[in-house]
Amino acid sequence: MGKRTIVTMPGDGIGRVVLDETIRVLDAAGFEANYIVGDIGWEFWIKEGNPLPQRTIDLIAEHKIALFGAITSKPKDAAFEELADELKDKNLVYASPIVGLRQHFGLDICLRPTKSYLGNPLNFVRRGANNEIEEPMVDAAIFRQNTEGLYGGVEWSNPPEKVYDALMTHPKFVKNFGSTPKEEISVSTRIFTKKATERILRAAFEHAKKYNYPSVTLCEKPNVIRETSGMMYKMAQQMQKADYPNIELWNTNIDAQMMWLTKNPENYGVIVAGNMFGDIVSDGFAGLIGGLGFAASAQMNPDTGIGVFEPTHGSAPKYADYEVSIINPIAMIESACMMLDFIEEQQIAAKIRKAVAEVISEGQVRTYDMMKMAGRPDVIQKGAASTQQMADAIIEKL
Ligand code: NAI
Ligand code: MG
Repeated sequence: MGKRTIVTMPGDGIGRVVLDETIRVLDAAGFEANYIVGDIGWEFWIKEGNPLPQRTIDLIAEHKIALFGAITSKPKDAAFEELADELKDKNLVYASPIVGLRQHFGLDICLRPTKSYLGNPLNFVRRGANNEIEEPMVDAAIFRQNTEGLYGGVEWSNPPEKVYDALMTHPKFVKNFGSTPKEEISVSTRIFTKKATERILRAAFEHAKKYNYPSVTLCEKPNVIRETSGMMYKMAQQMQKADYPNIELWNTNIDAQMMWLTKNPENYGVIVAGNMFGDIVSDGFAGLIGGLGFAASAQMNPDTGIGVFEPTHGSAPKYADYEVSIINPIAMIESACMMLDFIEEQQIAAKIRKAVAEVISEGQVRTYDMMKMAGRPDVIQKGAASTQQMADAIIEKL
């Protein structure tokens, strides 16, 4: 078999830095691939009026697997300001290229694993029954529906007549909002489809089965949001009964889950949720394992085999131009490991994760976030490792 081709989309800011370091790690681990750069991000918005050029979409369609750094987004007005003069009269509106990618390729399965590394000084600790300090090892794989729900974009302020009339057919709308002037109403919908719900639930259960997690937790709010959360819960129950009798199905409400987050996070295995609750619960869990420097993610379409792998963090513009980069590359490196899992290169992924684990547990090389320092150029003098030194340390272990 020939070498694989991976589309790399560095994007903006620190996205470029962490992606470069990650490719060095992949090379050192013996992963053989051709890398083709896909243009994405702010630079292309300014120059071309499109942060996600068609040629990048074509590249991903052809090669299916992409590594993505991060992009910078700015509010509509600021985005317009920076647009090249000759593009200013073309009615262009900035839209997030990540959301664009998700929609274009139907990347409806988002996986955000949160697994503690032994010896990470950022690990969550709590006080036990006898006043002792406990450090629970977290290993939760969070599946987030990535394309629907509250982030689906179907929303209005001062809704059009037809929408308003439709709302007025609902007795609860009449009772609670019927006397409010239409102009004073904003509506954001939360639409779940059976198809997408089935897909995210299936992905969660399959993951639990493949990696021997004893439970899948549905984290929604079916007792209150009866139609969407309710449908999801019912479908999860049916699926568990029919196809995964050996995996337990737990049902937690998002609010309670956030409270239990610090009480017993080690009890959770696979967690599955809709778009917004998945976003919330995955950020919550990421905080327990070290935060943005450690939070990786995958966005996948199992039908087409297309996957985009990226750290959860953004482009952190204030750190982008440091002469010596100080940010932690581990979230990006972890994301690349998820890519390797996805393309059945689990052995190389395991090798890299082992190297990362060794560096962390030895504790000799730590980026500023791991030393709990404020991010400033002088952290290097104070003993923090640079981005490159962290990657070097991982490569050394390989
Ligand atoms: P951010 O994630 O870029 O940075 C927030 C803070 O987290 C940083 O100031 C830094 O203290 C810390 N941090 C982030 N990554 C780190 C790393 N690898 N190691 C150590 N510390 C790290 O979020 P922010 O500042 O809200 O957004 C900056 C830009 O990124 C915005 O334009 C935003 O729209 C965009 N963004 C893009 C995302 C993406 O591409 N997926 C996701 C989130 C934000
Ligand atoms: Mg988020």
